[in-house]
Amino acid sequence: MRVGTSMLDVVGDTPVVQLGSVVPDGAADVFVKLEWFNPTGSYKDRMALAMIEEAERRGDLRAGMTVVEYTAGSTGSSLAYVCAAKGYRLKVVSSDAFAPEKLATMAALGADLTVIASDGGKVTPDLVTRMIAKAQEYAGEPGTYWTDQLNNRDSLVGYAAVGREQLDRPIDVFCAAVGTAGLAMGVAHAFREAGSKSRVVIFEPGSTPVISGGEPGDHSVEGIGIGFVPPLLDDSRYDEVRTVDETAGRTMARRLAAEEGLFAGTSTGLNVAGAIELARELGAGGSVVTVACDTGLKYLAGDLYTT
Ligand SMILES: Cc1ncc(COP(=O)(O)O)c(C=O)c1O
Repeated sequence: MRVGTSMLDVVGDTPVVQLGSVVPDGAADVFVKLEWFNPTGSYKDRMALAMIEEAERRGDLRAGMTVVEYTAGSTGSSLAYVCAAKGYRLKVVSSDAFAPEKLATMAALGADLTVIASDGGKVTPDLVTRMIAKAQEYAGEPGTYWTDQLNNRDSLVGYAAVGREQLDRPIDVFCAAVGTAGLAMGVAHAFREAGSKSRVVIFEPGSTPVISGGEPGDHSVEGIGIGFVPPLLDDSRYDEVRTVDETAGRTMARRLAAEEGLFAGTSTGLNVAGAIELARELGAGGSVVTVACDTGLKYLAGDLYTT
């Protein structure tokens, strides 16, 4: 049995499951790495722990300091858990565009929360900019450390493990939707270090195809499609970018729950919809891996599972 000496010891080493009936006949095998097995139910625990411990290692973050971040709620929940376990104060900036479960989780874990009003609950291109501006203001206060997830390469240290944990099987394609691009870049880094030939394909919502060279637009997929090309995204580290229709992603999230017993969120639905498209193109005998970013429990108050 895996026994941790603190909650910080039980991040990662998540299971992988092969999908069944949602994958059409003749398509490649599709595997999903179940990241909700992390302590707050999301892969962000990996990056939060890495960002805090790398900052401690450098001496940038010391006992008594306050950590600051802006977040859709997943990173904030993960940072709140790491800060609670390590005894740091945490100030987070989030928005009512994001799941109330995530806002409540951050508060439950002791974070000091600022909620920015959205335009009708939508993730609009200016929302992230306003959240960042507020976080920047807090980060100017003495005794603070801003984890600055959009620009913080320490996250890749945590996410590389997602790649290493898959390397015991041959994979044709790894694919995932990007927000900060930390997960995709961390996995790509691990693949490159290991000399793996797996292709890396990234996704963004069809209505905001900025990485694909289009105009930013609105969508309701939490955590991805931030309205601009994320600074961590290195185009030498992925092979292809694709848009995936948000509605197809939502339909897939509901099918995953009802037909596979895989209960996750909107970005996971989008990841799997995109992965199945790639699996169709690859054909039987191939393998595609994606991730379940987080648990469906974070989305019960929204409309994902009610419409
Ligand atoms: C639910 C969810 N899915 C996907 C992502 C995208 O992950 P990354 O920022 O590593 O690209 C995020 C990031 O916030 C998220 O919260």
